[in-house]
Amino acid sequence: MRIVLVGPPGAGKGTQAAFLAKNLSIPHISTGDLFRANISQGTELGKQAKAYMDAGNLVPDEVTIGMAKDRMAQSDAVNGFLLDGFPRNVSQAESLDEALKADDVKLDAVLDLEVPEDEVVKRIAGRRVCRNESSHVFHVTYSPPKREGVCDVCGGELYQRGDDSEDTVRKRLEVYHTQTEPIIDYYRAQGLVVTISALGKVDEVTKRAMDALKGDK
Ligand code: AP5
Ligand code: MG
Repeated sequence: MRIVLVGPPGAGKGTQAAFLAKNLSIPHISTGDLFRANISQGTELGKQAKAYMDAGNLVPDEVTIGMAKDRMAQSDAVNGFLLDGFPRNVSQAESLDEALKADDVKLDAVLDLEVPEDEVVKRIAGRRVCRNESSHVFHVTYSPPKREGVCDVCGGELYQRGDDSEDTVRKRLEVYHTQTEPIIDYYRAQGLVVTISALGKVDEVTKRAMDALKGDK
C-alpha cells in the first residue's frame, strides 16, 4: 500500500506510523525524522534544514522533494510506503503525483488524523524523543519510558525537540493550517481521504486507522 499520513503537529503521526508500517509491512518514511538525522550527522542537507525547522517554517521544496524521492526510491519502498510529514503543501503533492505517475503507481489512501488543538498542545508539551533516532517517541504522562530520560528501544538519551517550544509550536500550527491543510482538499478531489479521530489510547487509534484503511481503500 502507498499511504500518506496527514495531521497537525503532535497529532500522533509518528506514533501511529510505527504501528501501521509494521502491520502493513511497509517502511515508515518521515521527512521530519530524515531532517533530524541529517542535522545530528552534521550533513550539508541538515545545515540547510535546521534554521527553517527551528523557526517552525517549512524547509524549501527544492531540498525536501529531492530528499523524499531519494528515500522512496530505496528498495524497501518498491511495493509501498507510509509517508509521514510529506507532502506538506500542494506543490509537494503535485511533485509526488508526478513521481508516482512516472512509476505507473498510485496512492491508496490519505489518512487524515483529526485532533483538537488543546490536545495537540498537551501532546507536544510532554513529548520526549530519542537522540539516536527521533522516531522513538515517548510522552512524560501518556507513554512514559520505563526509565526516566532513557529510550526503551535503544537506550538513547531522551530530549525535548527544539521546535517543541511554545512559540515555535504556534508557528507550526499556523503553517499547518495555511500550507498543509489545502492538500486534504487536493486529495479529497481524488477520492483518497479517510479522516479518523486521533483521540483515545494509541492502540485504539491504530485499530481505528487499520479499520478505516481496510474499509474502502
Ligand atoms: P515533523 O517532524 O514532521 O513534525 P510535525 O508534523 O510537526 O509533527 P510532529 O512530529 O510534531 O507530531 P506527530 O504527529 O508525529 O506526533 P507524535 O507521534 O510525535 O516536522 C518537523 C519540521 O521539519 C517541520 O516543522 C518542517 O520544518 C520540517 N519538515 C518536515 N517535513 C517537511 C516537508 N515535507 N516539507 C517542508 N518541511 C518539512 O506524537 C506527539 C506526542 O503525543 C508524543 O509524545 C506521543 O507519545 C504522544 N501521543 C501520540 N499519540 C497519542 C495518543 N493517542 N494519546 C496520548 N498521547 C499520544
Ligand atoms: Mg512526527
